[in-house]
Amino acid sequence: MIPDHVPEENVYYGSGDLKKESHVPSFDKYKELYMKSIDNPDEFWGVVAKDFFWKSKPTGPFLSYNFDVTKGEIFIKCMEGASTNICYNLLDRNVHERKLGDRIAFFWEGNEPGDESVVTYRELLQRVCRFANVLRSQGVKKGDRVSIYMPMVIELVVAMLACVRIGAVHSIVFAGFSAESLCERIMDSQCLLLITADGFYRGDKLINLKHLADEALQKCRDKGFPVKRCIVLKHLSKEPEESMDSHSPPAKRSCPDLQVPWNPEVDLCWHALISEASDECEPEWCNSEDPLFILYTSGSTGKPKGVVHTVSGYMLYTATTFKLVFDHQPDDVYWCTADIGWITGHSYITYGPLANGATSVLFEGLPTYPDVSRMWEIVDKYHVTKFYTAPTAIRLLMKFGSEPVQKFKRKSLKVLGTVGEPINPEAWHWYYNVVGEKRCPIVDTFWQTETGGHVLTPLPAATPMKPGSATFPFFGVVPAILNESGEELEGPSEGYLVFKQPWPGVMRTVYGNHQRFESIYFKKFPGYYVTGDGCRRDKDGYYWITGRIDDMLNVSGHLLSTAEVESALVEHRAVAEAAVVGRPHPIKGESLYCFVTLKDGVAYSQMLEAELKKQVREKIGAIATPDYIQNAPGLPKTRSGKIMRRVLRKIACNEKDLGDISTLADSSVVEELFQNRCCPSV
Ligand code: WTA
Repeated sequence: MIPDHVPEENVYYGSGDLKKESHVPSFDKYKELYMKSIDNPDEFWGVVAKDFFWKSKPTGPFLSYNFDVTKGEIFIKCMEGASTNICYNLLDRNVHERKLGDRIAFFWEGNEPGDESVVTYRELLQRVCRFANVLRSQGVKKGDRVSIYMPMVIELVVAMLACVRIGAVHSIVFAGFSAESLCERIMDSQCLLLITADGFYRGDKLINLKHLADEALQKCRDKGFPVKRCIVLKHLSKEPEESMDSHSPPAKRSCPDLQVPWNPEVDLCWHALISEASDECEPEWCNSEDPLFILYTSGSTGKPKGVVHTVSGYMLYTATTFKLVFDHQPDDVYWCTADIGWITGHSYITYGPLANGATSVLFEGLPTYPDVSRMWEIVDKYHVTKFYTAPTAIRLLMKFGSEPVQKFKRKSLKVLGTVGEPINPEAWHWYYNVVGEKRCPIVDTFWQTETGGHVLTPLPAATPMKPGSATFPFFGVVPAILNESGEELEGPSEGYLVFKQPWPGVMRTVYGNHQRFESIYFKKFPGYYVTGDGCRRDKDGYYWITGRIDDMLNVSGHLLSTAEVESALVEHRAVAEAAVVGRPHPIKGESLYCFVTLKDGVAYSQMLEAELKKQVREKIGAIATPDYIQNAPGLPKTRSGKIMRRVLRKIACNEKDLGDISTLADSSVVEELFQNRCCPSV
């Protein structure tokens, strides 16, 4: 499955010398370890597990599972019988056993240059313990769900690890999501409590987060689900330490435009609560398969699914992928530019790096604020060695040329990473040549919220790279490519990307709906986990992701379901029907092109278009704002009434070659849609 030899031509290595210190210094070593991880997972992962603290040892095999729906319920269990606590492993173990208390866990870099702070492992442990005690004092117990809706601040890490310390299950909602999306997620996972902040800046835009949180809580109340407590961090309205009553609103200081509405019956002030809390907090020992967190990801039916990860497998998997994919070394400064509200931030800002005792940059701002050199300025400021970002950010910066990059030296950089969508070779080359100066290998990491960590990825000192390919499987991962009839294809081929067996970090269920988990991932091809991505394998055995094959779009590295956007559009009183497709976009990867059929008697207007855009933004969040809306008096449908999205995609791109349209009920509709296309300004 892994080729004996890799090609020597048209591949890249990076000219820097990583091999000397690398954990996996050659392709042969990768192959040897890979075979071991497949042939004897107990031994392979047993070695990894030795580095961690276990309150009690496992009683059975390392992994047990069923991936075949025809043989009964789908399950995956890792290290059954063992108990541990991840927070203990990330913090106490590093401070007390590994003596890393004084090591910096995070350099925090605020949105505004100059706004910065640092936190060591010892300080982080202390802050987490205090906040964990706060949560306990609010009645949060093991297994309870806690919703977190916060900007990129250290307290977000504190809040998540405080949950973990007491065995509570965090459900983090990206702070760019709307009040409606937050409400939906709070209700789906029945959260006991919400943790949020007053507000934050994204570039020069002020986000009144507390206002959105209040709106979400009001919606929950209206739907019969009152959340009793909301803990509010003062981020923008910081003030000098003074004695505070935990029921009074934070005073406004540094940000006069900030509105911090306050409901004394529900709201509690973070700062007042922790000032009364103790530094000592006994961790809750959890079983391996206890839930660790829920993270919502778009579902193709439109309803987001609560992906559930569990304790031991996720810890081992994120720790190992982080260590090997970024070839982590003690003197590294690592920076992942993702938001913790997405899986990349969960696995590769919080869990993986802290498990390794790494020093990371935690960045609140944007790559373009105050200017397009910001990333490279930060790289030089903290001497970043390993840098992880998304193709959409690379394409955005590439537009401004190499000058803003070359204003800074970037000599510290050793490894570059990408995640979120296929990287186009042009962006890959720019990243490799300009940012990394041909010195740094690029790890193009393919994975999903569901996979918990990287599943297809190069290892920086071992794998020859091909621009645009996620290369080969990580340890323990067995990919296959299937055709439509579910047959495994050998050699060079293209089809559905599936996995044949679990690895420790794969998701365990959809929260509250195991049946949905089985039907989304396991029903189409019994015996396999189906990723939903298309994939090609070339003659050298390299894997190339070709994109989603379900009704999902990838906008700036974020998955959105067309159904989700369509349902937000049809909720508008003027809209009878809507169909949304992706249109390639030079920076975002895909943009949203929406066709709307209006109700009889309603006229299309610019004002209506603006209202529709606003409606989607308010229902889902700014990432889902439609790029184009086209008035579609009729939609192309089959005789049985199914919308032919394939045809709409062609119309959105102005591609006249429609292929076979013999099943189309009325072809004049297509002609009309072509004539009235939106003329995209990009
Ligand atoms: C896409 C993000 C190609 C893919 C970690 C996947 C990628 C979806 C890559 C998951 C990559 C992610 N190359 N495609 N390196 N990384 N994808 O759940 O379609 O937000 O299924 O997890 O992003 O997105 P999610």
